[in-house]
Parts: sequence; C-alpha cells; structure tokens
Amino acid sequence: LAKIEINLAEIPEGKSVTFKWRGKPLFIRHRTADEIATEKAVPIETLRDPQSDEQRTQDPKWLVIIGVCTHLGCVPVANAGDFGGYYCPCHGSHYDASGRIRKGPAPLNLEVPPHVFNEGLLIVG
Ligand code: FES
Repeated sequence: LAKIEINLAEIPEGKSVTFKWRGKPLFIRHRTADEIATEKAVPIETLRDPQSDEQRTQDPKWLVIIGVCTHLGCVPVANAGDFGGYYCPCHGSHYDASGRIRKGPAPLNLEVPPHVFNEGLLIVG
C-alpha cells in the first residue's frame, strides 16, 4: 500500500505507536509538552546531522519517522536511550524525541517520510 491513514485520536499523549508502511516500521509519537520543549531547546550546532525540531515536525505534537536505524538498519526501541527518544540495541545508537542521532555510530537522523495532516487523520506516503 502506497499510503497509510492513521486516526490520531487513537494515540494518547506520551505514547509512541508502530505501524508498518512500505515494508518498514513507521513510528508515530504523540509528544508531550515537555518533550517538545526539550527538543526545541537543543542547539542545532551540537548535532551530528543538524536539523531543527521545526524542520522535522509539521505539528510539534506529532513526530513521524521511519523506524530504521541509519547505521545498519536495525529497528530502534521507542522511549529508550539517553536522550528520551529511541535506542538502537544493535550497536548502541541513541536518538532523541525528534528522532535525531545524538550518540553512537549512526550517521544520520531517523528519516521523516512525506506526510500530511487532515482533520484528525495523518496520511503518510
Ligand atoms: Fe543501529 Fe548499528 S544498526 S546502531
């Protein structure tokens, strides 16, 4: 299936849910106000793959990322690691709650797929 539609009302604040899209895990995270504030405050120049939180999210409440580690392709674990985001157990990459690489061997941030919001629905693809 090229596109996936997700009813955002089913994902409570603070929760990260995994879907499958084009054969890959798709992580949707309903971020808390604290998580949003933390990610917005990260100085971009300290990042390995410098992207602001604003560049990565259309609506700060919702993080939409592909759950494939940019090191060698393992699936990271949500709500784990040193930066409150994702942890890849294969070789120890830590991503923050914006999906940005913060520590470990991965070279790039977790990929943000094309997506739009429409009346409570998220459409990815
Ligand atoms: Fe994720 Fe190596 S595949 S750290």
